[in-house]
Amino acid sequence: MPVLNIDKMIVNFDRALRTLCAGATSVRPFPGGELRESNLDENDRRKASALMRVNHAGEICAQALYQGQALTARNPDVQQALESAAIEETEHLAWTRQRIAELGGKVSVLNPMLYAGSFMIGAVCGLLGDKWNLGFLVETERQVERHLEGHLDRLPVEDRRSRAVLDQMKKDEAQHARTALSHGAAKLPLPARQVMRAASKLMTRATYWT
Ligand SMILES: [Fe+2]
Ligand SMILES: [Fe+2]
Repeated sequence: MPVLNIDKMIVNFDRALRTLCAGATSVRPFPGGELRESNLDENDRRKASALMRVNHAGEICAQALYQGQALTARNPDVQQALESAAIEETEHLAWTRQRIAELGGKVSVLNPMLYAGSFMIGAVCGLLGDKWNLGFLVETERQVERHLEGHLDRLPVEDRRSRAVLDQMKKDEAQHARTALSHGAAKLPLPARQVMRAASKLMTRATYWT
């Protein structure tokens, strides 16, 4: 059994607070930062802002899942890969948050609850062993990639700044899945994948409106 210690718990609590309350920072420049703000009408602006709120909430979940998984993962290599991926996800968090602000929108009020739930799911996956833990990660990233494709279809065509953010995120998520596969991820059984799809559909619907 992996050892849980008080230091790790404090670090994770600190990360949770920073993810939810502080503005995340990005090493890479904001994708599409050079593009001019488009002249969206009120309906399109609201729609784009709601879609970006969903993506920001998804990144909150990704942070929490990775942190939970890293907490209980057995293999130090896997722990390291999960922690580096979590750091990369903070850039997605920063980009989506910035874009929501640019569109005059708000982040989801459900974020703290989503963080807590995702952290627990991540920690349970870590306890199942590394190949399942990584398999869960691969499936999550693939579903996020498909979800981002769907949002690229739904975003107003003129909103090039939001589109640039989602394009870069999609590339990064595909890379995260490849990293997990290279560390020995197992393919999750179909019922597990279906439950994950249903849960993420629920999350995306709820955060679109709140
Ligand atoms: Fe992400
Ligand atoms: Fe990712």
